[in-house]
Amino acid sequence: MSIKHIAIFASGAGSNAQKIIDHFKDQQLVKVSLVVTNNPSAGVINIANKENIPLLVIEKKRFTEDGYIDELNKHDTDLVVLAGFLWKIPPILIRAYPNRIINIHPALLPKFGGKNMYGQNVHRAVLDSGDKESGITIHYVDELYDHGKIIFQAKCPIEEGETIESLINKIHLLEHRHYPEVIENILRPQTP
Ligand code: GRF
Repeated sequence: MSIKHIAIFASGAGSNAQKIIDHFKDQQLVKVSLVVTNNPSAGVINIANKENIPLLVIEKKRFTEDGYIDELNKHDTDLVVLAGFLWKIPPILIRAYPNRIINIHPALLPKFGGKNMYGQNVHRAVLDSGDKESGITIHYVDELYDHGKIIFQAKCPIEEGETIESLINKIHLLEHRHYPEVIENILRPQTP
């Protein structure tokens, strides 16, 4: 069985990227072969350097025009994994990687998704809604924000006195527990 290569796209701290990298260390199923960021001061850059993973800092105009597809192909990318990546994925890249780009969203889609629904905005909207639970959604990426087919969801309760910070912590725990496993399930060869 040939090893599968993933490219992780992240714009921020990269705690999900770190968990994914840790999960796939010392095994022969998946290799994290590229880290991509749009943010030259993102924490994920230190992670890529520390882990000796090639890093690509991308620029908006070129991303929109050619999607850096050559770079992704050069690293034999089988799956693009968005982990806190804030730019919209251009149609050219979606067409080049059909059903091979996934995202994690820190709420229970289809609620609380769409343009500007990222970071604290999501959690604020969830708390303002009065909902009694939130969670995470892992989904395929299509040309609309937070819209593609849902692969996996996990939930957590919203408790009395819940704050944005406490909810972020709960969501991060769910993300760290489940995202690596879901990626593994997608890439693991199916037994007949
Ligand atoms: C995660 O909550 C992810 O769902 C959201 O951005 C956050 C990224 O966190 N889209 P990190 O950079 O992986 O720590």
